[in-house]
Amino acid sequence: MVKAEERDILVEIRDLCVRYQTRLGPVSAVEDVSFDIYQGEILGLVGESGCGKSTLGKALMRLLPPTTSIQGRVLFDGEDVLEFDEDQLRDFRGRAISMIFQDPMTSLNPVQKIDEHLVEAIQVHEPETEKHPALERIHTLVERLGIQKERISDYPHQLSGGMRQRIMIGLGLVLNPSLIIADEATTSLDVIVEAKLLDQLREILDEFGVSILVITHNIALVAELADRLAVMYAGCLAELGSIYEIFDKPLHPYTRGLLRSVPSIELDEREELYKMPGEPPNLTYPPSGCRFHPRCPEAMPICSRLAPTLQEVKSDQMVNCWLYQDHPEKKAPTIKVKS
Ligand SMILES: Nc1ncnc2c1ncn2[C@@H]1O[C@H](COP(=O)(O)OP(=O)(O)OP(=O)(O)O)[C@@H](O)[C@H]1O
Ligand code: SF4
Ligand SMILES: [Mg+2]
Repeated sequence: MVKAEERDILVEIRDLCVRYQTRLGPVSAVEDVSFDIYQGEILGLVGESGCGKSTLGKALMRLLPPTTSIQGRVLFDGEDVLEFDEDQLRDFRGRAISMIFQDPMTSLNPVQKIDEHLVEAIQVHEPETEKHPALERIHTLVERLGIQKERISDYPHQLSGGMRQRIMIGLGLVLNPSLIIADEATTSLDVIVEAKLLDQLREILDEFGVSILVITHNIALVAELADRLAVMYAGCLAELGSIYEIFDKPLHPYTRGLLRSVPSIELDEREELYKMPGEPPNLTYPPSGCRFHPRCPEAMPICSRLAPTLQEVKSDQMVNCWLYQDHPEKKAPTIKVKS
């Protein structure tokens, strides 16, 4: 496998902060996140529910509610998506980047035949493409995805869940984007259909040379599919690196807990599955310092005072944790309060 640093960068995300405005105050859903997405890679994004995975994905496409505050930079082929006006955004979505969601029925039009929908998707971005060549392109693509071309003159409700999900993937690929964001895109399928679809997806992605950000709760799935893994906790990036390095030796205490809580075929039936203590924080009032400190078995005094930053600890592995960083305060004595 090509080492991450030797690959071409497609997206550079720098100091990204996303805050939703709510009646109770701002929700800090993404906090100071920086990482790159490489050309042609599959990057998995995992973390507990509510940690900001979908928010991060939507921020890359600028699909967030208008009152949301987004700061930082999202450089796509060197251009900052956060600076795009509406016309640039319309052109950018679909052509350069597309998103596949969990429920295809929310993206497909129930009263429009699938082929009409796909032709329309092409012609919005490529008005010069006529209906016939657009249809030919769609037929080649859906057959590649394992669907007979005749089936796409059906309405969405006439297809099975697995077929609809394939159509969604087709919709994501039809404009030849450089990046696809798949947000829990195969979660609703049964495991056998999911495994088959993922195998096909991997082949197609290799063929198209497209990068994909796979957002999922399913760690086993990313282990199968992804080249690299990004682990999020409470809006922050905890760890980032090659799948091999992270599964072999997770460095961040949260990643270690997350991996221990995944059922393994080697697990003795009498062994109980690890359950991480505590609950993820409310992001309206996130903990000070490292956001994981109230749950961390290795927390030090500095952890509740200062937030660490994501730093390269070894080749292909970056970690956001004081265990791997020096700071004068790390040597500060713990003040014991007399009870
Ligand atoms: N539109 C919104 N307005 C206010 N808060 C929101 C909004 N959408 C998400 N949030 C909050 O932002 C935080 C991150 O949510 P997000 O949906 O990005 O998490 P997630 O990791 O995708 O979770 P899941 O795995 O359940 O899909 C959560 O605290 C959530 O409650
Ligand atoms: S910075 Fe401290 S609290 Fe946070 S994960 Fe590392 S050791 Fe735990
Ligand atoms: Mg989500």
